[in-house]
Amino acid sequence: MAPIATSNLKNFKPNEIRADNISKFDPNFTQNVIDAMGPKTKPRVRKLMASLIQHVHDFARENELTIEEWMEGVQLMNWAGKMSDDKRNEGQLVCDVIGLESLVDEIAFKLVADTSDSATASAILGPFFRSDAPLLPNEASIVQGVNGGEITYMHGHVFDLQTKKPVPNATIDVWQASTNGLYEQQDEHQVDCNLRGKFTADSNGYYAFYCLRPTPYPVPNDGPAGKLLELLDRHPMRPAHIHLIVMCDRYKPVTTQIFDRIDPYLKDDSVFAVKESLIVDFVDLKGNPRASLELEYNITLSPY
Ligand code: BEZ
Ligand code: FE
Repeated sequence: MAPIATSNLKNFKPNEIRADNISKFDPNFTQNVIDAMGPKTKPRVRKLMASLIQHVHDFARENELTIEEWMEGVQLMNWAGKMSDDKRNEGQLVCDVIGLESLVDEIAFKLVADTSDSATASAILGPFFRSDAPLLPNEASIVQGVNGGEITYMHGHVFDLQTKKPVPNATIDVWQASTNGLYEQQDEHQVDCNLRGKFTADSNGYYAFYCLRPTPYPVPNDGPAGKLLELLDRHPMRPAHIHLIVMCDRYKPVTTQIFDRIDPYLKDDSVFAVKESLIVDFVDLKGNPRASLELEYNITLSPY
């Protein structure tokens, strides 16, 4: 691009978009930063970083970002890093409250689901998954120790999207928060792996376990994610949900959450994860001494 004539610069005013389309800022700067990548940069990294640099620079120019505002952003990132450890992922939480994890989940789901209308929809993993949940037999309970709340008999079948037949041997990994709004790794009073379990669907594709009717809870809000929520005048609540990861050989795995239809926060989940097809109905259960509620939930997997 041709150098800007000094006569073009002297009349610049803040926030002015000039009719002659000449930027008041160095028009070559962003491209120079992008072009600084060396030849050994991998193509995908080059694409992502070029796009990120372009968007971040455009954001700074469009808003005439001040040094103080930029520094506040830097401090927020540093705070998130300092707060994070193997039990707390504040960086992920910050992404969650600005909807980024839900957007990435939606992109992933749309990309893999050629017939997405009837396979079980995905939802975000969230920061409280543990890969080492205990393997439990069908009909076992994930509720350990004292939790209060309503015990639910959750059961259903896993189906093949194409054949509509049951899929045997799928693994259903489930986790949920206790009635005090905390996952077991957040709460020293809960038994290790409370409210977590991995189940295997039987030869008829049937799975069953006992869990709690979930209750709404706030995402941790004593750090930068909470600060952001406060700045944005938003509450930290998540609607009541149960997390699931369902996996089976030859099928695309699904990470999802199911939501209680009567929850008041369905319309304004603080992390934007609710999808209509994932809203379920808990119903009264009579004659089962182990549970007062029942939830039948069928899962449909898409073959590779
Ligand atoms: C969760 O559902 O466990 C969760 C998701 C995003 C942020 C915090 C918690
Ligand atoms: Fe959760």
